[in-house]
Amino acid sequence: MSTPAVALSRIDSAFAADVREGLAREGQKELPSSWLYDDVGSALFEAITCLPEYGLTRAEERILSAHAHEIANAIWKPACVIELGSGSGGKTSHILKAVGAHQPDLRYCPIDVSAAALRACAKALAPFAEVRPVEASYLAGLSQAVRWRRPHEHLLVLFLGSTIGNFARPDAIDFLSVVGKHMRSGDSLLLGADLVKPVERLILAYDDPTGVTSAFNKNLLGRVNVVLGAGFDLRLFDHEARYNVVAQRIEMHLRARVGHSVSIPEADCTIHFQAGETIWTESCHKYRLEELDAMAESCGFRADARWVDPDWPFAEMLWVKP
Ligand code: AVJ
Repeated sequence: MSTPAVALSRIDSAFAADVREGLAREGQKELPSSWLYDDVGSALFEAITCLPEYGLTRAEERILSAHAHEIANAIWKPACVIELGSGSGGKTSHILKAVGAHQPDLRYCPIDVSAAALRACAKALAPFAEVRPVEASYLAGLSQAVRWRRPHEHLLVLFLGSTIGNFARPDAIDFLSVVGKHMRSGDSLLLGADLVKPVERLILAYDDPTGVTSAFNKNLLGRVNVVLGAGFDLRLFDHEARYNVVAQRIEMHLRARVGHSVSIPEADCTIHFQAGETIWTESCHKYRLEELDAMAESCGFRADARWVDPDWPFAEMLWVKP
């Protein structure tokens, strides 16, 4: 085993372990989608949200801007707002403005693994609340953030943008159940989930003609090169978005054009690709409303209210801890 010249940080060692586990295995190669969001990946994702083919973010923005006051009226107040995966925080301003209108000492804890995203978010939302950013994974960050709730406050947990769609269906239920375990009776969860829609529309959204999603996907290999000293030639891979009808999800892959090997020194491995072989990099599950209502109950919540965008079927739901 070679000794790296400079020790990897804790996050980079976790990346190395995931890369080795996901690429060196037999059968379908896979990389966890959470690693898509380094600084370049986060910037490319922001660009995706502006694409005409990707209606998801605008749909949620329409819902939040039109119904923020209704949402603020439906939650128990005073509240402390915690957001899982804040990103740059753009959509959240509507909620903070509406909740903060009755609560001048509002506190907001964004949780994200991207330091750059947290900085942008803290700056954008400082006018509406006292921002306490937490750089951590969702659940580690949540157990930290709940400690800042004042004794008389309720929690409003935000999990927006259909990030829940990245979880396999059973994992989504487990995850939201654990989130609920950190909440008390009367606390609420505002959850955004993308709905099933015609396949052609979904494919265009995840394989846009401009090529931004392709760049977003390939950047994952760029990150392996930069962080782990690998020799991926990004030009030897094609972006692919497929719809899995049975699992009701978009699957993003990177397909090797030719057979070749790539060495990844900091992950102590060399990976062989056959021509046409793929790395599965992300799943984006699409839901039906009935399924989401049933999910609320499976996760230990009561589905209290919901708003659906008519132009791009997307559901924003308010789930309350009974
Ligand atoms: C941020 C997970 C909601 O699933 O639509 C966008 C990520 N991937 N285009 C999604 C994504 C490719 C996005 N989420």
